[in-house]
Amino acid sequence: MSDIQKDKILILDFGSQYTQLIARRIREIGVFSELVPFDVDFEYIKEFNPKGIILSGGPDTVTNTDSARVNSKVFELGIPILGICYGMQTMSVQLGGDAKSASKHEYGFASINVDYSSSKLLSHIVKNNNDKSLDVWMSHGIEVSKVPDGFELLASSENCEIAAIENSEKNFFGLQFHPEVTHTAKGKEILERFLDICNCQKEWTVKNIVKNIISDLKAKLGEKKVLLGLSGGVDSSVVAALLHKAVGDQLTCIFVDNGLLRLNEGDQVMETFAKNMGVKVIRANAQEKFYSALLEESDPEAKRKIIGRCFIEVFDDEAMKLKDINFLAQGTIYPDVIESAGSKTGKAKVIKSHHNVGGLPEDLNFELVEPLRELFKDEVRNIGIELGIPHEMLFRHPFPGPGLGVRILGQVKEEYANILRLADNIFIEELYKAGLYNEVNQAFAVFLPVKSVGVTGDERRYDFVISLRAVETIDFMTARWARLPYDFLDKVSNRIINEIVRVSRVVYDVSGKPPATIEWE
Ligand code: XMP
Repeated sequence: MSDIQKDKILILDFGSQYTQLIARRIREIGVFSELVPFDVDFEYIKEFNPKGIILSGGPDTVTNTDSARVNSKVFELGIPILGICYGMQTMSVQLGGDAKSASKHEYGFASINVDYSSSKLLSHIVKNNNDKSLDVWMSHGIEVSKVPDGFELLASSENCEIAAIENSEKNFFGLQFHPEVTHTAKGKEILERFLDICNCQKEWTVKNIVKNIISDLKAKLGEKKVLLGLSGGVDSSVVAALLHKAVGDQLTCIFVDNGLLRLNEGDQVMETFAKNMGVKVIRANAQEKFYSALLEESDPEAKRKIIGRCFIEVFDDEAMKLKDINFLAQGTIYPDVIESAGSKTGKAKVIKSHHNVGGLPEDLNFELVEPLRELFKDEVRNIGIELGIPHEMLFRHPFPGPGLGVRILGQVKEEYANILRLADNIFIEELYKAGLYNEVNQAFAVFLPVKSVGVTGDERRYDFVISLRAVETIDFMTARWARLPYDFLDKVSNRIINEIVRVSRVVYDVSGKPPATIEWE
């Protein structure tokens, strides 16, 4: 992807929860950016050859003697540098300024007063704006107390005297607020202006990315054959579409139906890829194998392991039947890469990648192909749109690798899976109809293997319980239960009880995460 990565930005990560957001915003503007721990070898930075550097925010306290610092040689590279929050603080301290504990901590909205006239970074943003205040998003307990030599003060807020600084000769800029979050008015414009100062061409566009990935894949694979485990999730679907475009019939996909998928999901995957796109897909109908392996097990972690193991066995079996495969494709995306890298000093707080799906057949001796390794999820989705993958598939809520296996509490049975599939489908269908599907970040039904009494007409029922779960979350690490309207819940509950004979009661899960998790197991 060399051409469209010619002009690029390097982000040195001090561990802020927003660092990935900075990289995504820069790319949205059309410039490639990479994110590395702040203490990465200086040689790496030189070799990367960025047009500009961004120092991210982070949880460290800059006034502590052992707090994180950027390699000072970075300030001698002669390229623009933007320090955000902690990045501004460490830049200030390292260049001869000072910082102190803020008299008032600032979290959330703040209004800053900007001296636009003299600023290289900010004057372009609000040229025609007579109002000199800007609403920004702040999150800090420390502030710069002395501006380093050569820098000018650009902006102050009520609680933060030094909110933005710049050295216009060297093109060093510091912002105490976060331009990368959407709450900051003109945040994107500020970043865009920084990229202009860096002299970056905007080549990082969906069309260019697709073109480059396809030509890279062609070059790498040549006439050789490649195998892909297709799950129907966003990442593997986009990999399938890219590979199909690049090498056509040299691609074979294996789709494992484990009996723990959503209603009609297997058929939809076959329809989209095999029928409509002409991709070679082998559907391994392994439902029985999974059900019988799970029969005696009710422990959640043991169930996960069984499902993972069965997947590998089925995949292996199918792969062995194929001849002359050289490559194995995987849907690894950039956040997986960042999260497994981490910082040398362990200072940049690495948010752990959550559950890894399944595992890989290690003994199959393939060379790996990972065409999405450099991409964020939103970029992967945009590529999916470009390649004609159905919108519904690309914007579906996340679905765990073990599928309904962790949504049927305790022992998994085919009968339970069938009931759950129907209930889940009603819930999701109604969410779409009510325009609520995209208002929540994950929604699903859970099967509770307890029986409860009910009446239908004159008849007494003694059947199972379904719990509905819907959450609002940004990172899935914490979540708030969604306040779905009562009338909506009423409708879903009525449909489930009336349409599914074996369900006598529906409940709604009102637990936040923490202390509860999103899934029930
Ligand atoms: P929890 O339940 O830990 O879930 O709050 C957070 C997010 O992770 C998903 N999840 C999984 N995904 N394999 C997966 O691929 C798993 O074993 C697994 N368990 C939970 C869950 O759906 C939610 O989006």
